[in-house]
Formats: sequence, structure tokens, C-alpha cells
Amino acid sequence: MMRKLLIVIALLASPALAQASSNNENLDSVHIDLADRLSLQKGANTFVNYCLSCHSAAYMRYERMASDLGISEQLLKDNLMFAADKPGELMVTTMAPTDAKQWFGVVPPDLSLTARSRGPDWIYTYLRSFYHDESTPTGWNNLLFPSVAMPHVLHQWQGTRTVHFEEVDGNKHFESFVAGVPGQMTESEYNSTIRDLTNFMVYLAEPAKLVRYRIGFWVMIFMVVFIVLSYTLKKEYWRDVH
Ligand code: HEC
Repeated sequence: MMRKLLIVIALLASPALAQASSNNENLDSVHIDLADRLSLQKGANTFVNYCLSCHSAAYMRYERMASDLGISEQLLKDNLMFAADKPGELMVTTMAPTDAKQWFGVVPPDLSLTARSRGPDWIYTYLRSFYHDESTPTGWNNLLFPSVAMPHVLHQWQGTRTVHFEEVDGNKHFESFVAGVPGQMTESEYNSTIRDLTNFMVYLAEPAKLVRYRIGFWVMIFMVVFIVLSYTLKKEYWRDVH
């Protein structure tokens, strides 16, 4: 009985363990705070203006985002709804997948759950790791995601920089950034903008997470009830046998 129970507990805990051990890249950590409403609103603004043109967040509706983040309907319609007519619509990109495939070679992935699949630190680091590279089709490259098909859509804010690589045993190693055209933001302003955007993407992934927790909770209750029932039943049967 005890051993079976331990196996059940181990199986239930394994996804958490797998997630904890998959994070071995060199990432900058970001402070996520879903209670920081202003940060979420700023992130939403950046997201709809600079990301939705290529990516969807197809699990989210505009009106739900607005009510979760305390954005009025007027503000939503005036500033955040470029790809939709009605607040009840899903946040999908207007870019046709066939066009995207032709332009970038890949269809930009849906970003609803990226904060869960990649993690906030990965997103924060990724959006701060672009550099100018003439050898790629877009003219951009990324230290965290080499040969990425996404252009640096926020380069006007961050500025343009190239990378100086050092050749060690035939391998290219990052040496330093070389500053180019300056951006409209200082480094700390850019970092804080990307932090807000990452915060928003964590929120985006949250509603789905809540559903998972709710289902998980009932599965746990069911298992506990089931274990108790089968144990009592077993005792009952064996009493007659003895
Ligand atoms: C011009 C189109 C375009 C825009 C605008 C754009 N992206 Fe992308 N993005 C792409 C493409 C294409 C890829 C796929 C890259 C690849 O697989 O090489 C991608 C990949 C990504 C990924 C990696 C996803 C993964 O798990 O592999 C993230 C994160 C991302 N984009 C975030 C953003 C954010 C945030 C914005 C807004 C600031 C944005 N993108 C704007 C085209 C775009």
C-alpha cells in the first residue's frame, strides 16, 4: 500500500521536476509581478502594437484582457484594437500563414503559452539579444536564438548593434557588442519595457494555467477518494477471507 502511494505521488510530481531541470541556459532573470497592473497595461500596449502584426495570442479575447487589466472599453478601442473590430474577438494576427511562410520561412508561433513553454527569463533575454547581422535574410540575428527568422522589431527603441565574435578552436564565441545607431530609449528604459512585455506574456499564459490547476485539483481529490475507497474495500474483502 505504502509503496503504491509513493509511486502515485512520484508520478504526480514528475512534471514539476522535469520543468525545474530543463533550465540550463545562460539567462538573465526578470522580476515578474502580476499584481503590477501598470506594468501589465504597458506590456499589453507594446504587444498589440508590435507583436500582433505577425503573432497571434489566440486564446485571449480583447474584452477579457481589458477587464482583467482594468482597461476601459474606450481606451481598448482607441489604442489597442488594430487587428479586430469587436472587443469580443480573439487576439489573432491579420497576417495570413501562407504569406508569413513566404516572408520568414516559418509561420510566427502563437504566443499565448510561450511564457510557459520557454519561461519568462528566456523571453526577457531573447528580446534583449538581437543584433545586426548582414549575413541573415532579415539583417538580424539573436544570441539566444541563432539564425532566428524574426527581425528585431523593437530596434528603434533599443538601437542597432553588432557583435564582435572571438574565434576559439574554430568556434565563435561572443566577445562584445559594438554600438551602432543609438535607440530612442536608454538601456534601462529598454530593459524595463521588455520586463513589462514579459510580464504581460506571463499573464497571457495564466488563464490557461488556472484551468489546468482547477482540473488538477479535482484529479487529486478523485485519486485520494479512490485510494481510500479501494483500501477500505480491500480490508473488507480480506476480513471474510481470514
Ligand atoms: C515581422 C514579424 C514578427 C513580429 C512583428 C514579431 N515577431 Fe516574434 N517571431 C517571428 C518569427 C518569424 C518567429 C519564428 C522564429 C524562428 O523560428 O526562427 C518569431 C519567434 C518569436 C518567439 C520565439 C517563440 C518560440 O518559442 O520559439 C518569441 C518569444 C517572439 N517571437 C516574440 C515576439 C514579440 C514579443 C514580439 C513583439 C515585440 C514579436 N515577436 C514580433 C516574427 C515576428
